[in-house]
Amino acid sequence: MSFLLINLILVVLIVLLLVLLSWVWPPDSPWALWWRTNKKTARAMCKLARVGKNDIVYDLGSGDGTALIIAAKEFGARGVGIEIDPLRFFISSILLHSNRLWNKVQIKRKNFHDVHIADATVIFVYLVPKALNRLLPKFKKELKKGTRIVSYRYEINLPLKEHDKENDIRLYIV
Ligand SMILES: C[S@@+](CC[C@H](N)C(=O)[O-])C[C@H]1O[C@@H](n2cnc3c(N)ncnc32)[C@H](O)[C@@H]1O
Repeated sequence: MSFLLINLILVVLIVLLLVLLSWVWPPDSPWALWWRTNKKTARAMCKLARVGKNDIVYDLGSGDGTALIIAAKEFGARGVGIEIDPLRFFISSILLHSNRLWNKVQIKRKNFHDVHIADATVIFVYLVPKALNRLLPKFKKELKKGTRIVSYRYEINLPLKEHDKENDIRLYIV
C-alpha cells in the first residue's frame, strides 16, 4: 500500500473517531461539533419568543449561527452571536457573509461571560444545565425587564412562561 493511501486511511479514521466522540462530549464543550439547532427548531424558537424587526437577539454560544441567520432573514431581527470556538466562529462568519447578513448579525469570538448583554431583547441558549446555572446571575444582573429567553432542550431555573414540547424549547421572561 502506498504511503499516501495509509495517510488517507489514518485521516479518515481520526475524523470518524472525532465524530463519534462529539456525541458524548457535553454540548457546551468546544469539541461538541454536532450539537446544534436545526432550521426548524430555530424557526420555532423565533415564533415562541415572537421575534420581530425591533428585536436584538443574542445567541450565547452561537455555534454555526443558524438560529441568528433564521432570526435575521425570516423574522427581520438584528443578532449578536458569541462563540468561543474558533472553528465554529469561522464557519458562522462564512455563513453570515454568504447570506449577506453582515450588517444585521455580528458574531464575536469571545467567552459569553465576558460580554455585556444588556441590549438584548431576546436570548437564545442551547447549553447544558451547569452552564445555564452559571449564566443565571448574569441574566439577573444585566438583562432588562421583559427580555425573553428561549432555551433549547434544557431548563433554566426561572419561572417558565411557555413550553413548546414538540420542539423541546422553553420560554422565560425576565
Ligand atoms: C450546543 S452548542 C449550540 C450552538 C448553537 N447555539 C446552536 O444552537 O446551534 C453550544 C455552543 O456554545 C459554545 N460555548 C460554550 N461555552 C461557551 C462560552 N463560555 N462562551 C462562548 N461560547 C461558548 C460552544 O462552543 C458551542 O458552539
